[in-house]
Amino acid sequence: MNILFLASEAFPLIKTGGLADVAGALPRALIKRGHSLRLVLPAYRSVLERLRSDQREDKPPALKVRGQIDLDGTPVTLWQTRLPGTRVQVWLVDIPAFSERAGNPYVTPEGVDWPDNDQRFYTLCRAAAELAMGRAGIDWKADLVHANDWQGAMVCEMLAREAASPATVFTVHNLAYHGLFDYQAMHRLGLAPWLWQPDFLEFYGQLSFIKAGLVFAQRLTTVSPSYAREIQTPELGCGLDGLLRARREALSGIINGIDVQAWNPARDPCLAVPYDRRRLVRKADNKRALCTELGLADAPDKLLLGFIGRLVEQKGLDLLLATLPELLARGDVQIALLGSGVKAYEQAFTGLAQDYPQSLSVTLGYDEALAHRIEAGVDVFLMPSLFEPCGLNQIYSLRYGTLPLVHAVGGLKDTVIDSDDPQTANGFTFAPASVEALRATLKRALALYQDPEAWQQRQWNAMSGDYSWDRSAAEYERIYELALEDKKQNA
Ligand code: ADP
Ligand code: GLC
Repeated sequence: MNILFLASEAFPLIKTGGLADVAGALPRALIKRGHSLRLVLPAYRSVLERLRSDQREDKPPALKVRGQIDLDGTPVTLWQTRLPGTRVQVWLVDIPAFSERAGNPYVTPEGVDWPDNDQRFYTLCRAAAELAMGRAGIDWKADLVHANDWQGAMVCEMLAREAASPATVFTVHNLAYHGLFDYQAMHRLGLAPWLWQPDFLEFYGQLSFIKAGLVFAQRLTTVSPSYAREIQTPELGCGLDGLLRARREALSGIINGIDVQAWNPARDPCLAVPYDRRRLVRKADNKRALCTELGLADAPDKLLLGFIGRLVEQKGLDLLLATLPELLARGDVQIALLGSGVKAYEQAFTGLAQDYPQSLSVTLGYDEALAHRIEAGVDVFLMPSLFEPCGLNQIYSLRYGTLPLVHAVGGLKDTVIDSDDPQTANGFTFAPASVEALRATLKRALALYQDPEAWQQRQWNAMSGDYSWDRSAAEYERIYELALEDKKQNA
């Protein structure tokens, strides 16, 4: 099958969150299964700079101009390269609004959306549609387009208007982000007036990009079975639950895999000491090294908790802020936190760290290597997310023998097993999302930590799981086939 995979970020070229991890790994797994795949990304300035500097070191991947498309007078340059370290062919869509702008792909340095996001990502989708249709002067045509999140959603509407067009699959990585724009955007983008209806792209007086995927794609997926059910409810449906219920026959949940090479404690170049489940004692060396690196007291017997992520409400930070101070005051735990996001959260955690410099370390910013060292060094990884479509850090934790402690929701519920059965338990879950439930579960973790044998059994279970993309890639393949059938039937 010829698959065009459209995303707004992909590791290692550009990453703000889990979508990049998926777009960096799933294409590889699909190619391994024999498909011809092209990954389409925006040519962000940082991506071009990175690829150009790689070139100077005289090593692949090569970056070259592959073509030019004219979109109603807007010239778009297409670059061709490969995803570093892989065989995945990448096409980069270059318009000045991507390639001449530094910083975050979606927001200004002040944290507000770039004012022209409608035009930037609409143009990305138009270029992707031309590529998929084989009209960009490149001898390749897609059988199927797999679009991701609101940034890629409009391609589904564009292809629905075309004759003999590829089938489309749309994946929701996070339903909380809709890509909403004012009514004027309809004119700016030249959209057909009939699309301005609640059944199509109108959403409470705004233009919703994500609806283009949800309404027009042949098949819909999201990143865990539980989240697929949750988004059909008013509680977690973000106002789109009615639409998702109407399309429930087309919707499935496929749990994300992880890049088991990049996240392998036995061969992780970021770690002080590599380890695996037979040499778990070496995990303690990583704990010690991490405490030294972060300025925490060397206290091997104390439970070390970790958190990595975007500091936003979704991640359950209010629960942490309501629970951790008492644990710190009692001297029960140490904590390593890495993240950035909402200023109020950043300030709350740095403020708390000033009170407990030996027990709480807060690193603001984005640091891939430190993320690996935290995964390896801590005993328990905290993810009290209010909702979590899939979540990747808890899976990295499992692989590193770090027991995840999570709110039983979405993908967290589907990956972390908390039970009395010593053969299956691999972490801790709590529900509901309350301070009391979190506190009680932290207590349970503290108690279990006093029982090294039981703890190691959970670590062993965690590290024995198969988290590779192989199984999920096969599930996507099945969905692609269904999408092709749907398309044929409706042609
Ligand atoms: P989300 O996509 O909602 O942010 P995920 O758990 O799916 O959540 O993925 C987050 C990814 O981003 C993980 O790979 C995580 O390690 C990484 N990450 C998030 N914040 C940071 C940070 N400050 N430094 C390094 N890596 C981070
Ligand atoms: C989103 C979700 C996260 C998921 C990731 C990759 O950012 O918030 O839960 O793991 O996408 O699918």
